[in-house]
Formats: sequence, C-alpha cells, structure tokens
Amino acid sequence: MLRVAVIGSGPSGVYTAQSLIEQQDVPDIEVYVLDRLPCPYGLVRYGVAPDHEKIKSLQNNLRTVLEHPRVHFLGNVEVGAAGPGLDQLREIFDAVVFCVGAATDRRLGVPGEELPGSHAATDFVAWYSAHPDAATRRFALTARSAIVIGVGNVAVDVVRMLSRDAAELAATDMPQGALGTLADSRVEDVWMVGRRGPSQAKFTTKELRELGSLPGAEVVVRPEELERDPAYRDPGGLPAVARRNVEVLRGWAEPTADADTPGKRQHRIHLRFFLRPVEVLGDAATGVRAVRFERTAPDGRGGVTGTGEFEEIEGQLVLRSVGYRGTPLPGLPFDEATGTVPHDAGRVLHDGAPLPGVYVAGWIKRGPTGVIGTNRPCAKETAQSLLADAAALGERKRGPAGDPVAELARAGERPVAWRGWLAIEAAEAEWGRGLGRGTVKLPDWTGLLEAARTAEAV
Ligand SMILES: Cc1cc2nc3c(=O)[nH]c(=O)nc-3n(C[C@H](O)[C@H](O)[C@H](O)COP(=O)(O)OP(=O)(O)OC[C@H]3O[C@@H](n4cnc5c(N)ncnc54)[C@H](O)[C@@H]3O)c2cc1C
Ligand SMILES: NC(=O)c1ccc[n+]([C@@H]2O[C@H](COP(=O)([O-])OP(=O)(O)OC[C@H]3O[C@@H](n4cnc5c(N)ncnc54)[C@H](OP(=O)(O)O)[C@@H]3O)[C@@H](O)[C@H]2O)c1
Repeated sequence: MLRVAVIGSGPSGVYTAQSLIEQQDVPDIEVYVLDRLPCPYGLVRYGVAPDHEKIKSLQNNLRTVLEHPRVHFLGNVEVGAAGPGLDQLREIFDAVVFCVGAATDRRLGVPGEELPGSHAATDFVAWYSAHPDAATRRFALTARSAIVIGVGNVAVDVVRMLSRDAAELAATDMPQGALGTLADSRVEDVWMVGRRGPSQAKFTTKELRELGSLPGAEVVVRPEELERDPAYRDPGGLPAVARRNVEVLRGWAEPTADADTPGKRQHRIHLRFFLRPVEVLGDAATGVRAVRFERTAPDGRGGVTGTGEFEEIEGQLVLRSVGYRGTPLPGLPFDEATGTVPHDAGRVLHDGAPLPGVYVAGWIKRGPTGVIGTNRPCAKETAQSLLADAAALGERKRGPAGDPVAELARAGERPVAWRGWLAIEAAEAEWGRGLGRGTVKLPDWTGLLEAARTAEAV
C-alpha cells in the first residue's frame, strides 16, 4: 500500500488526489488530504467572489473526490513550524505532495504602502470571504473614493464588491459582518489603475464586461488614455482575450444615445491606464488621502517607461491588487525570486536533485496565476511523477505503519475529519436560516471548530 499526504485541499490538492485514485497501475493507494483550515477547497471557498455562484459550485465536483473511500480529509492540521514538519510527515507517509497555494501578497515597494487605509487586496478578499485568519480585520468603508492598484481579475473582483448593492450580496454566503459593512459603505468612486496599457491588462473579458452590467454603477474610461496604447488603435495582432477586452473598453469610450446621464448611479468605476504608483500619500494619524502616480508611455516592447509627469488620485482607501505570493515552509526548498518551490515535473528539487518522496502542485509549483481548471493538468503531471516513483517509494524504510490519524494525534494534532466539515456546513446553513438568508459562512476559528466538534460528540 502507498500512503500519500497531500498538503492543501484547494483545487491543486484535490486534483492531485483525484489523479492518484483514478489510475490502475498502483491500486493500493490511500490519500490523506491535510489542510490548516477545518474547511476544504482553498481559494474556491476563500477567494472566488461570493457573487460568482456558478464558479463556487465547483466545490461540488471537488467534494466527490474528497468523499471517495480512499481519500481522507484532515482539516485543522497546519504543516510547518506550527504543526508536523516534513521529516515527521515522511515518517508517516510514503510521499508528501505540497499543494499549499500562495498565501500572501506581493508588495508594491513604494513609500506609504503601510499607511492606515492601505491594504493588500489579499486581506480584503479574505475578509469578505470569511477566512478565519481575517476575522479581526476591519475595513472602514467611510472612504468616498477607493483606489484599486492593478488590473487583474482579483482587482476586478474587489472593484465589483465595492460597487455592488449590498442587497444583491445578501443572497450570497458572505459573512454577516462584511455584508453589514458593505451595506453601510460610503464609497462612491472606485478607481482601478493599471501601470501599462489597456491591451496589456490581465483581466478576462467576461469579468471586465460584468463591471458594465452592475445596476448601481457606471463605468468611466478616458478615450484619450486608451488611445495612447498602439494596440488599442490597431488590435489586429493581439491575442483573442486582449482584443475582446479592447472591444469592451472601446464600447465604453463611445457614448451611446441611450446612455444614462453621467453621475446618475450610486457608484462610478474609473478605469485608468498608464499610471505607475510611486507613493501612497497621507499620514499615520489620518491615514491615506491619495496615491501619487507617474504617467507611463509604451516602450514598444510590451513594457512602459516613466514620462516624468505625475498625477495624484484622491482616495481614502487603497487596495493593492498586484498579485499573490507563495511563502516558504521549513525544510522545503524555496525560490525567493519566484515565490515557488523548485521542481522537475512536480518532483521537488534540492540543489538540482529530486528530494525523494516530496512533490509539489498548483500555485506553489507554478506561481500565483491561472484559473481553477489550470490546476488540473498541473496536478496530473505531479501525480504521474509520483506514480512513476511508486516502486522506490514503497521500498523506502519509514516509521511503523500505524494509522496516520493516530500518528498525527500522537504528534499533538487534533484534525477535523470529513464529518467535522459536514457539521460546519450544517451549522452555516442553520446560521443563515436564523438570519433570514441562505447559507452564511462562519467567520472565525472558534465558530468553525466548535461546529466541527459537534460531529465528534455524536
Ligand atoms: C481572489 C481570487 C479569486 C479567484 N477567482 C477565481 C474564479 O472566479 N475562477 C477561477 O477559475 N479561478 C479563480 N481564482 C484562481 C484559483 O482560485 C486558483 O487557480 C486556485 O485556487 C489555486 O489552487 P491551489 O490549490 O494551488 O491553491 P489554494 O486554492 O490557495 O489552496 C491551498 C490550500 O492549502 C492550504 N494550506 C496552505 N498552507 C498550508 C499548510 N502549511 N498546511 C496545511 N495546509 C495549508 C490552504 O489552507 C488552502 O486550502 C481566484 C484566485 C483568487 C486569489
Ligand atoms: N474570475 C476569474 O476567473 C478569476 C478571478 C480572480 C482571479 N483569477 C485568477 O487568479 C490569478 C491571480 O490574479 P491576480 O489579479 O492576483 O494577478 P494577475 O492576473 O497577475 O494581475 C496582477 C496585476 O497587478 C499588476 N502589478 C503587478 N505589480 C505591480 C506594481 N508593482 N505596480 C502596479 N501594478 C502591478 C499587474 O500589472 P502588469 O501586467 O503590468 O505586471 C497586473 O495588472 C490570475 O490568473 C487570475 O486570472 C481568476
């Protein structure tokens, strides 16, 4: 029998488990999916925006894998300094696959980034998604103007959350505290700012177009700014997504006869380009008041150069949405430059040689880009490498082959098993019913663990 620990129950972890059990060559395989949270699904639960219910429902596909008889979910087990380390796991399991995602944010590296009112979008997303680590975070949406830096899909998500009517969000599983704060929000102007041109923005067309269909918001673009991008003027050679994005932006730049009177709606979403952040302005006592940008110009090679002209955009809330970043784990090789674990087809490399029995998949393998489906082939590649090594892994001498759950308990862990997670789901449905809403997420560790423990008592 081959016993594999998959660390992380996001898409890459679940797809790895699926690839391992849906093959015939190594039939006796048992997969233990460990997660530091008591809840499975990674960013599908704690990142995908609450109003994207169709994508959220992918959790049902992931669920069928985690309910497979040879897959065992063990939540509330944090691998690393706070819990079992790699050496300990290698004593219990024949192989360990790290699918831990990219938990932190990339930094802007400009003065003022840490001022009150300037936040990583990562933290804002975690807060409205009810990630228990974000339970004590507060976002005072007393700002009239909010500036989102970056033009990727996460930036679009947070712009949409700031611009949607709270009444529409009440139908989602958003936690009650975040919903109340958004309902009281005074934000009117939301700026989404890219350092390069519209044809180089990272958002996808469906997500961009959705900004224009929000009932309470109007999108404002500056035709002269879009025109600065040579590929906007002549989109023929662009990749399909960029070409479609440009078409959507062009539609917004050309006012139509039946367009609403400007200023009629509650929110204005300003899409700005060719502005590179150089400083977040404000002070420690009163917080952020503006962001200073340098205007850029295309350099003809896909990048931009500074022009020496500056512009300040006023805003009392800044969300830096410039990408996620992987974090190192003790004993696991890590490339600081890319924030990923070095690997060869999923086999973790230490000084260029494979570290026996240690693998990696998902964002911690490839970096923090790609949609849920991108993790499927990535996980499959890793699983295939592991299966190719199966004979050698099975022969490796490890500790006594006891029950992994008992071994983890001996190491001081108190895992939340699948039925504990089901109890959390039931508690969230109950909590939502009490609030007159559908399922509503429990936002803190205490609530989650208390709910999970009710399953132990029965
Ligand atoms: C805000 C946001 C919204 C997104 N929206 C969409 C969308 O709408 N559609 C789409 O297709 N894609 C979307 N994506 C992309 C998609 O979520 C990712 O491609 C995918 O989640 C990456 O999967 P992963 O398994 O590598 O990482 P994750 O999903 O982050 O999973 C990692 C898991 O590892 C666990 N973990 C971390 N460290 C440890 C540890 N030390 N011990 C134990 N467990 C640990 C975490 O708790 C987590 O459950 C979004 C991404 C973000 C950031
Ligand atoms: N609905 C969905 O399908 C969905 C939703 C959310 C996320 N996702 C996926 O999740 C992944 C992560 O998304 P993401 O938005 O975090 O990352 P992303 O797509 O890499 O976008 C990051 C943005 O930040 C900008 N940026 C980086 N460093 C900067 C700096 N120093 N100053 C100013 N701008 C800077 C980038 O500009 P440059 O291009 O100039 O570097 C880019 O516009 C993506 O693959 C995304 O598609 C999908």
